[in-house]
Amino acid sequence: MPTSPAEYVFPDMEGSFRHMFLVAPLHIKLPFEIQEELRAHVETECANPERQPYDHKLAGRIRSGEQIESTKTLPEKLKVLFTHLGRQYLFRLSEANECPVNPESLVSFGESWIVKSRAGDYNPAHKHTGQLSGIAYTHVPPQVADPANMDGKLQFVFGQLKQENIDFLGMRRVIPAVGDLYIFPAWLMHLVYPFEGEGERISFSFNLFARNL
Ligand SMILES: [Fe+2]
Repeated sequence: MPTSPAEYVFPDMEGSFRHMFLVAPLHIKLPFEIQEELRAHVETECANPERQPYDHKLAGRIRSGEQIESTKTLPEKLKVLFTHLGRQYLFRLSEANECPVNPESLVSFGESWIVKSRAGDYNPAHKHTGQLSGIAYTHVPPQVADPANMDGKLQFVFGQLKQENIDFLGMRRVIPAVGDLYIFPAWLMHLVYPFEGEGERISFSFNLFARNL
């Protein structure tokens, strides 16, 4: 008969996690040639005298930068790629959540836009339309890449983060890096902090539609 708690011996009962509620953006480092194609598209559109402002569709408070429509001129190859990645993400997310979707689900490209932000520009908390969204970075100034501050960082918001209640949900920071792509559910709230100083932070975003789920 044990005389202290430390003397009890139990068989292994570690178990495994069941991912019943998983909200996990997918992070992909785009291959170099894709980065270059996306960068070329972004730079061409930023210099296009016919470029169309997209501010009326977006939440961003962009005073010195620009928000530019990009769907019409986005190369078909990139639309196909982002749609394909979104479809893969949909199935991985549904599997991880133990919530199967129709294997014949259709994912289609919705819209895309470019956000060129400069000092002081920011994006308040918002969500997107459609079912899936993506964001990729083509230009990141040094102060935005610096992990020591929140300048120009993307932040996802889900839950309240209350560790004393073992609630580990809440806010998660993303440090923008050139060539990084994030895909996430369109309903997931996020925001972008302003930055100071020189340089342009340029991101490319898109929305996808998923049907017959
Ligand atoms: Fe957004």
